[in-house]
Amino acid sequence: MPDGSMVPRLPGFRRWMWDGEFAGSIGLRWQNGTAALPPYCLGHIGYSVVEWKQRRGYATAALLLILEDARAMKLPYVEITTDPDNLPSQKVILAAGGNLFERFNKPPQFGSKPCLRFRIALA
Ligand SMILES: CC(C)(COP(=O)(O)OP(=O)(O)OC[C@H]1O[C@@H](n2cnc3c(N)ncnc32)[C@H](O)[C@@H]1OP(=O)(O)O)[C@@H](O)C(=O)NCCC(=O)NCCS
Repeated sequence: MPDGSMVPRLPGFRRWMWDGEFAGSIGLRWQNGTAALPPYCLGHIGYSVVEWKQRRGYATAALLLILEDARAMKLPYVEITTDPDNLPSQKVILAAGGNLFERFNKPPQFGSKPCLRFRIALA
């Protein structure tokens, strides 16, 4: 965790975004047998695009692709969290069919700051 505390590692995988060279990465993590996540896990999916390749639709395309993996795993929904001021990430989530689920405060390990939790229905 960012504060140095230890928690069990969840199952998951990370893929690279590639356009002839590395462009970013996107990861999916979950708990077996449930769509729920432990409080210390801020969302099923996380992504980032290198600064010099942003605003080309890569994050949106990668999210749509990894949703197919989540659907194949029979997850009924995925959650993605963003900081309230991270408008690019919120646009990516909305473009993939996400809806704001709740506003909450991050757990203490992450600094207890405000955060938004979105859900994308898959069922
Ligand atoms: C969030 C992030 C992954 C978006 O990646 P991206 O490949 O640039 O996203 P897309 O090109 O798919 O753009 C999605 C939308 O966000 C908009 N957008 C992207 N970067 C933006 C910026 N800096 N300012 C304003 N809008 C932006 C795009 O214009 C697009 O909107 P549109 O559909 O209305 O045109 C990228 O900014 C990033 O890596 N940020 C740092 C890491 C991060 O915040 N990860 C997410 C944590 S929740």
